[in-house]
Amino acid sequence: MHFFSHKKGELYAEDVPVKELINKFGTPLYIYSYGTLIRHIRAYEEAFCEVPHIICYAVKANSNLAILRIFAELGIGADIVSGGELFKALKAGIKPYKIVFAGVGKTDEEIEYALKNNILMFNVESEAELHKINEKAKNLKKVASVALRVNPDIDPKTHKYIATGLKSSKFGIPIEKALDYYKLAKSMKNIKVIGIHKHIGSQITETSAYVEALNKILSLYDQLANYDMEIEYIDIGGGLGITYRDEEPPHPKELADVLIPLVKNKKGKLIIEPGRSIVGNAGILVTKVLYTKETEQKNFIIVDAGMNDLIRPTLYGSYHEIQPVTPGKKEKIVADIVGPICESGDFLAKDREIEKVSAGEYLAVMSAGAYGFSMSSNYNSRPRVAEVLVKGDQYALIRKRETYKDLIRNEIVPEELL
Ligand code: LLP
Repeated sequence: MHFFSHKKGELYAEDVPVKELINKFGTPLYIYSYGTLIRHIRAYEEAFCEVPHIICYAVKANSNLAILRIFAELGIGADIVSGGELFKALKAGIKPYKIVFAGVGKTDEEIEYALKNNILMFNVESEAELHKINEKAKNLKKVASVALRVNPDIDPKTHKYIATGLKSSKFGIPIEKALDYYKLAKSMKNIKVIGIHKHIGSQITETSAYVEALNKILSLYDQLANYDMEIEYIDIGGGLGITYRDEEPPHPKELADVLIPLVKNKKGKLIIEPGRSIVGNAGILVTKVLYTKETEQKNFIIVDAGMNDLIRPTLYGSYHEIQPVTPGKKEKIVADIVGPICESGDFLAKDREIEKVSAGEYLAVMSAGAYGFSMSSNYNSRPRVAEVLVKGDQYALIRKRETYKDLIRNEIVPEELL
């Protein structure tokens, strides 16, 4: 569910005509709907209200400060994977005691930074990391709270690049070894074991993999009690899918309905780390048609947004619905919608049936709020685009469009070597 719709013959973001935003801020432009974000957070809060829980929004999905601030205001926590994400989450006002830190490659600096800020817990991904955190905590005369990220070896039936809970994946600690590592963690002076974590993948459209994975980690949870380890937090990760095309992912309520009975009688507090299902459908990317081109084999619609602005179609072959901002033409064509980047992989859609558009018209790439701007880059020396937040009939710029000057801001020409 989202608040982008066609009214009076044109696309609106909540109560604002997208055309008005284009006229004011130019294209390409990311537009987010405040109402949609709030709605999604509430859906999770209501779904899990029966059990003590913390929603730790996965910052990587969209880390714009204004968006993080909205979540901070709602008392939401954060799932972070880098020092940069910690910095942004704290800047936005997210409480450190609601921040969990995952990732297989936490650096010394990142661990120290998180320790100094007293985050809720590290989701530890290897034995070596456990030793590292213990050592860093000792140096700082602190005790680090940790969960072990357990890899339950479950196929979430999603794109292979975003499946993270399979044996072959780099993530987490193999479930067979987890008990040993928990014992090791317990023996460490500067480590306090407080949680258990798993995250099996992203864009998951069935609840069965969640149930299977949770059951696996709960049997470990029960075992841990025998070794005098009381787990306070059961972190089930994120991963709930959204509708890009015709997927019918479960509503958070459906997820809660199958998971709550499993944890209801456990002492631990539930942590959920949704990213995509909060911001995905709350954002669109608006782009301008620059040229149209017909070859013997194909029609091309060449637009001003490229794979550097939205890499999902290129990287995962992802489908994003594309709608004209001002629809109404009868004639339809089948076309590739491509960007200006010098790579054949630079496309937003392939062989897509779409209303015939001409240069100067605008298209909206739907469901682009998650892993859209946050995965964007300056490839081809393209300044990163602007982002706007709409709330009812009001709106505000939440990230300025980069300029050519921004492109060279950190670059140094070492005259002495030239
Ligand atoms: N927790 C952990 C530990 C994660 O690694 C992730 C996502 C999440 C939570 C949030 O998952 P979500 O609810 O957003 O599915 N760039 C890819 C998605 C990569 C997801 C990485 N981890 C894409 O565009 O599809």
